[in-house]
Amino acid sequence: MTGTEPAVPRIDTSRPHPARVYDWFLGGKDNYPVDEELGRQIAAMQGDAPRHARANRRFMERATRTVVHETGIRQFLDIGSGIPTEPNLHQIAQAVVPDARVVYVDNDPIVLAHAAALLRGTPEGVTEYLQADAREPERILERAASVLDFDQPVALSLIALLHFIADDDGAPELVDTLVGALAPGSCLVLSAMTADFDPENVGRGIAAYRASGVTLVARSHAEMGRFLKGLELLEPGIVSLSDWRTSADEHDAKEEPVSLYGAVGFKR
Ligand SMILES: C[S@@+](CC[C@H](N)C(=O)[O-])C[C@H]1O[C@@H](n2cnc3c(N)ncnc32)[C@H](O)[C@@H]1O
Repeated sequence: MTGTEPAVPRIDTSRPHPARVYDWFLGGKDNYPVDEELGRQIAAMQGDAPRHARANRRFMERATRTVVHETGIRQFLDIGSGIPTEPNLHQIAQAVVPDARVVYVDNDPIVLAHAAALLRGTPEGVTEYLQADAREPERILERAASVLDFDQPVALSLIALLHFIADDDGAPELVDTLVGALAPGSCLVLSAMTADFDPENVGRGIAAYRASGVTLVARSHAEMGRFLKGLELLEPGIVSLSDWRTSADEHDAKEEPVSLYGAVGFKR
């Protein structure tokens, strides 16, 4: 483990937390009654929320495989990594590139509590975890530099993270700071919630989160594009996750669009 965090993380089980609600959607066991309660409320109001969580996880898998197979990138910075769910990003990357170096970052202490399991990567590679807030990107870059060489390309993953951070809470600036620190050849793998396809359902989900004190923002195609400005987008560009490199026979491709946009953009 890296950094200066307390040895015993403080876990607040009196309020729901996005990482644990997401874990509940994925069928995991690392959540508390408050998380399950909010998960059930959201699923009742927005019936396809668990489907969205599973589709988002599959996007992470497809996008990470695309990056490792189609580029020479061997370094990964995954911010908003979530509670470990197999296959984890480091397992996907190190299966192809055993010496891949991976830094996970999340602000939830329960993720830190599970880091022991997460840290079991290949002997040749490095798998580290930082507890830090995405709204402090300089701090993340400074600490991640003990593992990653920022003079070489890095795949930066912000997967299902930015909808928890409003623009006036620094979302555009944190993306600019992180992407600005990356070497040419690096990429940004992004997914975030949108109301473009199903505004009513997504609006109900947002209301349920907000009623529990959790910020959730949906972004339009144009707003997603601003996060990726100046980057060269991989085909098919910014699309619903169900359309991002799913083969025609895949489950996701046959269903209604998932209400998250996904994209991979390269810094040239
Ligand atoms: C929906 S989960 C996504 C997990 C994983 N990236 C995935 O796509 O499967 C969002 C994660 O972002 C984390 N998160 C939310 N706000 C954050 C912040 N300001 N800084 C760091 N992590 C944050 C949550 O704790 C949670 O683990």
